[in-house]
Amino acid sequence: MIPVNEPLLGDREAELVLECLRSGWISSAGKFIDDFEQRWAAYCGRRYGIAVSNGTAALQVALACTGLKPGDEVILPSFTIISCALAVIYNGGVPVLVDCDPRTWCMDVDQVKRKITQKTGAIMPVHIYGHPVDMDPLIDLAKAHNLAVIEDAAEAHGAEYLSGKNTPAPAWRRCGSFGDMSCFSFYANKLVSTGEGGMVLTDDPALADRARSFRNLCFQPDRRFYHEELGFNFRLTNLQAALGVAQLERMEQIVARKRSMGQTYNGLLEDLDCLKLPAEEPWAKNVYWMYGVVLSDEAGMDASELAQKLKERGVETRPFFLGMHEQPVLKKRGLFMDENYPVTERLAQRGLYLPSGLALTEEQMRNVCQAIHEVLS
Ligand SMILES: Cc1ncc(COP(=O)(O)O)c(C=O)c1O
Repeated sequence: MIPVNEPLLGDREAELVLECLRSGWISSAGKFIDDFEQRWAAYCGRRYGIAVSNGTAALQVALACTGLKPGDEVILPSFTIISCALAVIYNGGVPVLVDCDPRTWCMDVDQVKRKITQKTGAIMPVHIYGHPVDMDPLIDLAKAHNLAVIEDAAEAHGAEYLSGKNTPAPAWRRCGSFGDMSCFSFYANKLVSTGEGGMVLTDDPALADRARSFRNLCFQPDRRFYHEELGFNFRLTNLQAALGVAQLERMEQIVARKRSMGQTYNGLLEDLDCLKLPAEEPWAKNVYWMYGVVLSDEAGMDASELAQKLKERGVETRPFFLGMHEQPVLKKRGLFMDENYPVTERLAQRGLYLPSGLALTEEQMRNVCQAIHEVLS
């Protein structure tokens, strides 16, 4: 079976993890935590990094830092992972959805304006499967309405967005450099992985201090076991951070490899008219975190049938996200009643992603595409 994801870990990871073991710094203090935070923030063009235990925790901490009040609304895409909605709900907020763009599969920015109300507190753009959201109009909208922006860049390590594309001086900016705070996951299938892990980035020193406090149970700096706010234990370990530091040393290579894998898949599949391949807008550099394909009506099958047929041929895949408005647990809470997001619904039914891990070989990619041709021809 060709796995949907296999991480690529090297000798450097082993060396740095061993250094933690030998030095005894195995918990949430130690030089690799600081190093990882500083290097990741610098890579993304931010001032401060706060490492946390996973990407869901990063979103939860970031929203807590915005001072969301009970009942405040947060606008997010319907096509995303449930972590985004959970972070809003656990902070006492109300998730409000917009559909996604049929080309990029990211939040449809034009729809955001229509969902802004007196209760809106924040917008949460999510870069989907490695392609950036169109950030400039979103940031303008947030500024005009005085809303916080929490950028979810969990799936977009190293992806870039051409900011100011309609101005005389456009500039490429990395995903994770936008908004008040940005959030990352370092789960095993991410470009940089610490096994489990996450990070919040910000340029604001006060927000950075708040995030550090929330991460660590809101201990007071001057009176340790005295608490004025409800915190979390979302600490990352030095052992995990060591993995991240080792991978950051070869970040350029990792991003180049992912982009070239995406282009290889594009080349091997472009002749199939019944498949829609991932987009790369002129203002975007996609890192193809997961290489997704969407079946057109002419394909004569939906994604679950294709997944089954590929499994029979030794190819593992994953279905696309199911929309937030179709999640039983959220519907049970009375959310999104009678709401429809047709683009999301279509993607959920007709989309899946192919093996995309960094350890995937060219030969495996060719075998995957051969299997797809067999099934669809
Ligand atoms: C867009 C997005 N946000 C948040 C998360 C949550 O990250 P984690 O699994 O590390 O909690 C993920 C996980 O893949 C994700 O894809």
